Amino acid sequence: MQERLRTRARVTSLLRRFLDDRGFLDIETPMLTRATPEGARDYLVPSRVHPGSFYALPQSPQLFKQLLMMSGMDRYYQIVRCFRDEDLRADRQPEFTQLDIETSFMDEEEIMGLMEEMIRKLFAEVLQTELPEPFPRMSFAEAMDRFGSDKPDLRIPLELVEIADLLQDVEFKVFAGPAKDPKGRVAALHVPGGGELSRKAIDDYTQFVGRYGAKGLAYIKVNDPAAGRDGLQSPILKFLPDAAVEGILQRTGAKAGDLIFFGADKAKVVCDALGALRIRLGHDLGLIEAGWRPLWVVDFPMFEYDEGDKRLYALHHPFTAPRVDDLQALEANPEQTLSRAYDMVLNGTELGGGSVRIHQPEMQQTVFKLLGIDEEEAREKFGFLLDALEHGAPPHGGIAFGLDRLVMLMTGSQSIRDVMAFPKTQAASCLLTEAPAPVADLQLKELNLRLRKLPQA
Ligand code: AMO
Ligand code: AMP
Repeated sequence: MQERLRTRARVTSLLRRFLDDRGFLDIETPMLTRATPEGARDYLVPSRVHPGSFYALPQSPQLFKQLLMMSGMDRYYQIVRCFRDEDLRADRQPEFTQLDIETSFMDEEEIMGLMEEMIRKLFAEVLQTELPEPFPRMSFAEAMDRFGSDKPDLRIPLELVEIADLLQDVEFKVFAGPAKDPKGRVAALHVPGGGELSRKAIDDYTQFVGRYGAKGLAYIKVNDPAAGRDGLQSPILKFLPDAAVEGILQRTGAKAGDLIFFGADKAKVVCDALGALRIRLGHDLGLIEAGWRPLWVVDFPMFEYDEGDKRLYALHHPFTAPRVDDLQALEANPEQTLSRAYDMVLNGTELGGGSVRIHQPEMQQTVFKLLGIDEEEAREKFGFLLDALEHGAPPHGGIAFGLDRLVMLMTGSQSIRDVMAFPKTQAASCLLTEAPAPVADLQLKELNLRLRKLPQA
């Protein structure tokens, strides 16, 4: 633990030096603030002097750093605590640290170039490792098609293959339905040597993909591809015509001793399920190649439509600029519009994400409108941003890295908890101080709070 904390201190020191040398100013932003929409639930702090009102702890300094650009502070950075009340996992904590960066007058090429240089230098100095120059880039669409994920782990040599076109007319409804649905997907995951997997292992994987919403996990074991149907073993073979079976074998390139898994559902379910299965198989079968595989994921859509809520959500955040300047074009086709966002991904972990921002008030209003935020609400929540934009904002953009995740990867740790002093548990509590804890009645009274009857534990 001490060694990891030493590495962490070395990392922050080198990052600071890199940015200081290039004219970035370290500027602090408030912790007691208003909710900024980064997509998670806020941590709230009741105000004593404004009864009934609450501060929110920042999910990120996003709006403050944009305002700094508008006020002429051209280059900003901060190593800053962020707070998000979300479901915790190995790479998520309720409070975590970002290396937060913003610059004026740089476009995405320049920002990505500078950030890569920073990460390359860091790896060279701390780990004596050369990362590729430049980092490869992949579009969001390609990442989803091939890996079922927008943070693909390129060390795992397994890929999803689209097969919907082969299955549109088969009688097996499980496949034909999603194959014909424009929002559906039918994909195969070819596992070289997977023929060795036992029935029990396949059952376990079926249960595993169920967690991602998959209703099953069809498979074909390939004993002898030259022998046609007789060389295959599968519970779904009887439902598939020869042409489909041949097409699947050809497209996946499956050989004797291999196995092919199938996912058929809404595209999101198939990507989530087979994307997660791909990683699990990579670990279980010892397929993970050694080394560092960074990449940029680019060409994200601006919005994602949520079937449940029947509305658009911003894929990155509502301040990200679209690829189009024309407001009518954006309004006519929001779901087809790409954004100027970019994510840096390393070995299957999203290290950082950022974008070029909207710097014109009309565009910001239009994006709010598409997100279902009407003018009144926009004014109420973001009036200060809209006012600042009215005064003429420079083109600007930036990025934030998850510092804990970066150090986790660099130290070969399994969880960001292993690189944090005094981390919290999965249940967001601190085992040392036993926070969160009840408070005295007097404190509640001063804050004008009264607790509702708590559910019996
Ligand atoms: P984003 O929400 O993508 O972007 O966050 C940036 C990076 O922060 C890290 N991160 C986390 N690390 C640990 N625990 C968490 N709960 C957690 N949540 C996020 C990730 C992620 O890539 N304001 C924008 C950035 C920008 O546009 O400049 C933002 O916060 O590594
Ligand atoms: P069933 O007809 O439901 O018995 O399913 C036949 C086979 O298809 C089983 O191996 C299931 O695991 C699999 N299966 C069912 N639904 C899906 C699905 N949506 N995607 C992939 N495989 C499925």
